[in-house]
Amino acid sequence: MSAIGTVLVTGGTGQTGRIVTDLLHRRGVNVVVASRHHPGERLPAGVRHVRFDWADVATHEEALRDVDSIYLLPPPLDPDPVDVVDGFLRRAVGAGVRRAVLLNSSAFPLCAPGLHAVRLTVQQMPEWSVLLASGFMQNFLGTHPTAVAVREHHEIVAAAGNGRMGWVDAADVAAVAAELLTRADHDSREHVLTGPEALSYDNLAAAIAAEWELPVGYRPVTAAERAAQLVDAGLPPTFVDALVGADVLTASGAEDRVTTEVAQLVGRDATSFADLLHRHAPRAAMTTTPEV
Ligand SMILES: NC(=O)c1ccc[n+]([C@@H]2O[C@H](COP(=O)([O-])OP(=O)(O)OC[C@H]3O[C@@H](n4cnc5c(N)ncnc54)[C@H](OP(=O)(O)O)[C@@H]3O)[C@@H](O)[C@H]2O)c1
Repeated sequence: MSAIGTVLVTGGTGQTGRIVTDLLHRRGVNVVVASRHHPGERLPAGVRHVRFDWADVATHEEALRDVDSIYLLPPPLDPDPVDVVDGFLRRAVGAGVRRAVLLNSSAFPLCAPGLHAVRLTVQQMPEWSVLLASGFMQNFLGTHPTAVAVREHHEIVAAAGNGRMGWVDAADVAAVAAELLTRADHDSREHVLTGPEALSYDNLAAAIAAEWELPVGYRPVTAAERAAQLVDAGLPPTFVDALVGADVLTASGAEDRVTTEVAQLVGRDATSFADLLHRHAPRAAMTTTPEV
């Protein structure tokens, strides 16, 4: 077994968590997958699953038993998760956990104060990392509402104007997390994670149209129109504020940047949007499983 000890992967059945689990398991690290539902046969042989619900603190103690490090995915769709995450991390420190790697969004600091604050909470750990990820390229694959609109209506709708963002492959984010969870020479800091180029929604639509031969276009809308659409789609209004805030931030140019963190930490180039599309024919795009 690895000298790294045991890593608890919260959200371990989700998009990034599944890949973090696989990568750690392949490195010989002892992994415990935490989520509300057991993943069944998708759990790699030899990996333990623990039932864990952010909303049920009675499940937290068992999840933290004999754990050394945590991949930390705050409660999804909760716009103000500070108290529950803070309580969990206090318990983790008390239980002897040393390191936590938090998944966060690069847009949240300015558009979602509650989600921003979680970044400070994680700094109570003896060793910590915050992953400030740009928009996931996987939003254009599988069952994500953006992907469904692309396939069914041939349009991308956003309130981001002509703003560009450094879209990142969720698998690259997971690879960075796995690296930071296992590095011996840990440097506690934030990492802004992007893909190799900043792309506008027009650029994204053109790339999809070319690769998948679909007549996809971008339809810019106002922030109010976008918010109404997302509320109609069933998202909680407070979380809609954060999502639309990210669009507005993108329109302002604040997300128009690329970093080299993925290449520096993982030792290979970050995946480009064109590469991702190429790997996923429209039919294959129905799956939500990013490649490792
Ligand atoms: N999409 C983007 O563009 C983007 C960009 C930057 C950052 N992010 C961040 O990425 C995060 C999502 O990560 P992801 O895509 O890897 O996850 P995901 O695919 O959305 O999966 C969510 C995971 O959390 C678990 N979960 C849901 N509710 C839970 C609860 N109440 N208690 C415990 N576990 C729970 C789910 O399993 P169960 O349902 O079985 O519990 C699942 O394992 C978001 O928080 C977002 O802030 C997203």
